[in-house]
Amino acid sequence: MTEQQEQIYSLETLFEPYTIHQLTVPNRIVMSPMARAFSPEGVPGEDMAAYYRRRAENEVGLIITVGMIDHPAATSDPGLPNIFGEAAMNGWREVIRQVHEAGGRIVPQLSHMGMIRSMGSQPYPDAPSIGPSGLDMQGNKISEPMTEEEIAKVIQAYADAAVNAQQAGFDGIELSGGHGLLIDQFFWEKTNQRTDRYGGDFLKRTRFAAEVVQAVRAAVGPDYPVSIRLSQWKMGDYTAKLVDTPEQLEQFLNVLVQAGVDIFHISTRRFWDPEFAGSELGLAGWVKKLTGKTTIAVGSVGMDNDPAEGEEADHQGMEELLKRLDNQEFDLIAVGRALLGDPAWAKKIREGRLEEIQAFTPDAAAKLY
Ligand SMILES: Cc1cc2nc3c(=O)[nH]c(=O)nc-3n(C[C@H](O)[C@H](O)[C@H](O)COP(=O)(O)O)c2cc1C
Repeated sequence: MTEQQEQIYSLETLFEPYTIHQLTVPNRIVMSPMARAFSPEGVPGEDMAAYYRRRAENEVGLIITVGMIDHPAATSDPGLPNIFGEAAMNGWREVIRQVHEAGGRIVPQLSHMGMIRSMGSQPYPDAPSIGPSGLDMQGNKISEPMTEEEIAKVIQAYADAAVNAQQAGFDGIELSGGHGLLIDQFFWEKTNQRTDRYGGDFLKRTRFAAEVVQAVRAAVGPDYPVSIRLSQWKMGDYTAKLVDTPEQLEQFLNVLVQAGVDIFHISTRRFWDPEFAGSELGLAGWVKKLTGKTTIAVGSVGMDNDPAEGEEADHQGMEELLKRLDNQEFDLIAVGRALLGDPAWAKKIREGRLEEIQAFTPDAAAKLY
């Protein structure tokens, strides 16, 4: 590397603190939200506190965990943790205490699976799965469209969960608005065919999300960090697009900014993939450029540490990451699988111990380590 390249690719920005409202994240590394079904009856236990504490001790600045909101059809697995009820909230208090003690910050991603949940799932097999038009991700009719009354109830459940999170001591909240979960099902034309005020063109389909954000913002006050995770892709359709041009993206995001979002968490498979022709910017870069809001990127960080046989790890993704962070294309970077594979990933990156990093394997996703 030349001297100039060394300067460009320095780790300095990655390990600089970042402040939004009263939240200071000690560095730019975020543990990506990854739902793990290890919480019996929805109550996070000591194993979950230890799992997250291990990442915080090893220099993950911000952890995004996942919590299901209070609705009978929110989850497909009673082992996913709830973000309501005394037992679950007491469990979370211990998780938060341990993460804070280790120097990390933590926010929950508030989730409702909508039509991705299989009908008949535990813990409430009799509750029908719900979605804007009762359509699954293939467009098959599974249940009745949500009534306005149901929509209002679910919006309230998001707001209640946000208050629960705030009262328990979480450092902010994130709304799960991507990957084809409930909020995203309202965004997507294939799953939202409503003709009332919650449906219509791509802009009108933002109404549900905007009402959720408004309700959450009103409940937690102006200074509590509220993030929304968004993606073009959906579970079951990696080629799906909500918007096709930067102009559409800007209109779409403006609705959410007006509603009170202050962090956009932009989910892509590879953070460096250009989003629109004629620019190197990834989707997260576009979102930051168009809104000026705090932006988190994600996608395949650290996944080139496990090269095919006979190849050397080139850590190219890391160079690309450091360059884009330095250029302020986005503010924070979420890391998913690499942090499942190695709880000390962030620390090893800072200390240059790249050859000691344990690569992600599917086994790592099957246990809480
Ligand atoms: C086991 C597992 C569970 C996940 N659960 C969620 C989830 O509940 N919500 C979400 O927004 N993303 C979820 N994701 C996606 C990750 O947050 C992340 O966006 C994805 O793995 C890409 O990042 P990576 O390449 O760093 O792994 C999950 C990923 C994995 C591997």
